[in-house]
Amino acid sequence: MANQDDQFKKVISHAKEYGYIFPSSEIYDGLSAVYDYAQNGVELKKNIREYWWKAMVQMHDNIVGIDASIFMHPTTWKASGHVDAFNDPLIDNKDSKKRYRADVLVEDHVAKIEAKINKEIAKAQKRFGDAFDKEQFVNTNPRVVKYNEQAQAILKRLGQSLEKEDLADVKALIEELEIVDPETGSKNWTDVKQFNLMFGTKLGASADSAMDLYLRPETAQGIFVNFLNVQKTGRLKIPFGIAQTGKAFRNEIVARQFIFRMREFEQMEMQFFIKPGTQIEWYDYWKETRLKWHLSLGMGEDNYRFHDHEKLAHYADAASDIEFKFPFGFKELEGIHSRTDFDLSQHEQFSNKKLQYFDPEENKSYVPYVLETSIGLDRMFLAVFSNSLQEEELENGSTRTVLKLPAVLAPTKVAILPLVKKDGLPEVAKKIFEDLKWDFNVAYDEKDAVGRRYRRQDAAGTPFCVTVDHDTLEDNTVTIRHRDTMEQKRVKIEELQEIVKKEVDVRYWLMKTK
Ligand code: GAP
Repeated sequence: MANQDDQFKKVISHAKEYGYIFPSSEIYDGLSAVYDYAQNGVELKKNIREYWWKAMVQMHDNIVGIDASIFMHPTTWKASGHVDAFNDPLIDNKDSKKRYRADVLVEDHVAKIEAKINKEIAKAQKRFGDAFDKEQFVNTNPRVVKYNEQAQAILKRLGQSLEKEDLADVKALIEELEIVDPETGSKNWTDVKQFNLMFGTKLGASADSAMDLYLRPETAQGIFVNFLNVQKTGRLKIPFGIAQTGKAFRNEIVARQFIFRMREFEQMEMQFFIKPGTQIEWYDYWKETRLKWHLSLGMGEDNYRFHDHEKLAHYADAASDIEFKFPFGFKELEGIHSRTDFDLSQHEQFSNKKLQYFDPEENKSYVPYVLETSIGLDRMFLAVFSNSLQEEELENGSTRTVLKLPAVLAPTKVAILPLVKKDGLPEVAKKIFEDLKWDFNVAYDEKDAVGRRYRRQDAAGTPFCVTVDHDTLEDNTVTIRHRDTMEQKRVKIEELQEIVKKEVDVRYWLMKTK
């Protein structure tokens, strides 16, 4: 655990030191769970958004994008169920006066059991060496089997109690498991209560005419209310999708773990409109397609797993999370939800407008079913950033800190470094810089010894460094160094654009999902 905490602290401080993420309004001591993206962060975030957009919109001829507003008519949230059902079960500790999400307390308890399982696995792996069969061990070792059963039973009961809104049983579970306040160790709990997560605000100047609004807690509803406009003007035939990226707001009680759970965050969502009855098929399709998208970034197959939901949201008939191994363990990164016709039917009812599709093949109209993919952009940022930050032992015994961002997502693709600040080398280097900047974000750095400059670019995540030396003046060649392998190659200046392009191109990365 200490190790995980240390690694996570490194992620947070590195994000600040290298201009990725700053606490919001830091000069006023920050604002809890609100963060600003800095000069490199904004580029990484934009690149992730673009990578998603290209994969979802550009690569699917039946998916289009929109950008709906954050303010929506307040009835939207009555219809969607958010006014009545978008709640978190909260529990207060009477001694510490701290407030927690009851389900998170139980999940954290389960995470501790899972940590014990992993410890047993690691121990056995060490004992048996190459002969170790993890699956067999997990299925037969009595201690691990017992832990697994415990964890499953707890999650099942939690899921069922939340589903039935049996908050007394959630409290009973917390007491039976002897869960303590993580900060003080106290077991003196209040009852569990529901708390709505939407931020309210007002539209209009005068107090009596002002209208109560909510900041949208998800982007999805902006798609549902535009469903017919987009379908008609785009002449779209089912199955088709509408994608959107944008801000969402939730008054999270347990906002923690850096940008993992924020109060203001960005979502990348796609609603796929389908024929009723085909939802299982599309649910499987989108689970597989979205996992492939993640895997295309090469961040390690073992870092992902599906978690199928026991407890379903008020709108879903099936739901699964793609979980990622964050520095603090496996947690939800993306959700794939089979939302049935819940949303469109609700909007039909509340707006008194028909939201139906005329199916020419069936010769009838119906309210389509919806398959949703929903991923947090900030959470994806954290997945990429934390996975990429590595400390490496080098052959000469020294260590280097390297941010191995997938090159397609890196904020700066190439740094141009004149070996020395004289002899005409900066002029040549600047010429290369001026030429490459038409295609990529390029950095120019002439300060300090070249070795230090390499380290700086490694830590900032720049995939390529190009060094201009005295030979360049003779033969128009430069050294190109790869961040990950540290391999250096001599190439012609005119080849640079092609070499870099090949490795940062969205096509090259997305092709891997084919
Ligand atoms: N439209 C469906 C929906 O909003 P969700 O599971 O509540 O579903 C989808 O959210 C994704 O949005 C999550 O998988 C997560 O990546 C991201 N997300 C949700 N709440 C978040 C928060 N407070 N901070 C950062 N990301 C969040």
